[in-house]
Amino acid sequence: MTDLLERPADSRLIEALIAAPPPVWDSEVDDTLVCRAVRRETHDVMTFVFEAPEPRVFSYRPGQFMTFEFEIGGEAINRCYTIASAPTRPHRLEITVKKIPGGPVSTWLHETLKPGMRVKAMGPMGDFTCAAHPAPKYLFLSAGSGITPLMSMTRTHHDLASGADIAFVHSARSPIDLIFEAELALMAREQPGLRITTLCEADAPMAAWSGYRGRIDLKRLELICPDFREREVFVCGPAPYMEGVRAALAEAGFDMSRHHQESFDFSELGDQIDAEPEAECEAGVPSFRVEFATSRRALDCPSDQFVLAAAKAAGMRLPSSCAKGMCGTCKCKLVSGTVEMSPSGGIRQREIDQGMILICCSKPTSDLVIER
Ligand SMILES: Cc1cc2nc3c(=O)[nH]c(=O)nc-3n(C[C@H](O)[C@H](O)[C@H](O)COP(=O)(O)OP(=O)(O)OC[C@H]3O[C@@H](n4cnc5c(N)ncnc54)[C@H](O)[C@@H]3O)c2cc1C
Ligand code: FES
Repeated sequence: MTDLLERPADSRLIEALIAAPPPVWDSEVDDTLVCRAVRRETHDVMTFVFEAPEPRVFSYRPGQFMTFEFEIGGEAINRCYTIASAPTRPHRLEITVKKIPGGPVSTWLHETLKPGMRVKAMGPMGDFTCAAHPAPKYLFLSAGSGITPLMSMTRTHHDLASGADIAFVHSARSPIDLIFEAELALMAREQPGLRITTLCEADAPMAAWSGYRGRIDLKRLELICPDFREREVFVCGPAPYMEGVRAALAEAGFDMSRHHQESFDFSELGDQIDAEPEAECEAGVPSFRVEFATSRRALDCPSDQFVLAAAKAAGMRLPSSCAKGMCGTCKCKLVSGTVEMSPSGGIRQREIDQGMILICCSKPTSDLVIER
């Protein structure tokens, strides 16, 4: 098939796209993305623009994420990234990534991923989206790279000229850490209902900050967005930030059923697993032998316990991230045996057909041998 995307965007290409829109990206069928452009946003944040190798349109809800598999140093590493672009521009997909000092994937993306390179991706996934909670008035609260899902939602409303009343309050360390500053200002000029407020904790060298200073709290929220109680609230940022926002809203008597948040750090869930007491076998619950073929470890896993939880309780360290069957990080080949699996998007049907399982959401129904 002719690779339309390899050719420059001339009038014939545009005609072809209009006459016959490409099929929708389907995670069951498609798994490769080609990097088409890299854009610097701030000193430690970059945007990566992707397209499918064959023409595809992407269909997703603003705020959803993809799970990527990167080949780094001969190892396959999974990470999730929010789709920062908007589904209203379906021919491309963008992620915006903050470089974490010492972080293997974000560093690799910043230093190595270039236009023309290919990565594997799965999704879209996730339920942090304004599309699931339509409202006339929103309050978007973000800090640092947590801006990405709120940016996707804002870009979508802007493209659709939805007329929604959006109060977007973004917190950053300093003025040089402001992501999407110019685009947000442009959208706010074009969309009467969109109001952007920014808080910085400190000045930066050569960039003094004259706006709101410090962290968001109830007093500041009352000042910046006095009608916040009437709004559907979406929050994304580091854990202490989200904790602060949650406490402020609760203190204000906010209806918390209208509060939605997304964490970029699945490790809190991982910690919950780590903290789980040693697997207790309830009376009458059968236990099965689980062998890990590569690491030559074996353990007993009760049939009412997830394999990952049992392995962690036995002191094994296995790749995992969400522990909810969403991200695909814990995917393993099941060499023999049967499991009862309850995934939430982290594995494709064709992978299941090839004998792969997500051990975070699989309970044994027989003795197992797992390639890991
Ligand atoms: C649903 C979901 C969506 C995500 N979307 C984005 C996104 O749009 N943009 C983005 O940059 N990252 C996003 N992340 C985080 C991303 O998956 C990686 O964790 C991040 O890029 C760091 O990867 P790493 O391999 O470099 O470091 P890791 O080894 O994964 O992390 C190193 C340390 O940094 C912490 N950390 C991870 N992410 C951040 C962060 N953003 N800010 C501060 N500390 C962090 C981790 O808790 C860990 O302690 C998302 C994560 C999830 C679960
Ligand atoms: S750890 Fe995310 S799917 Fe298992």
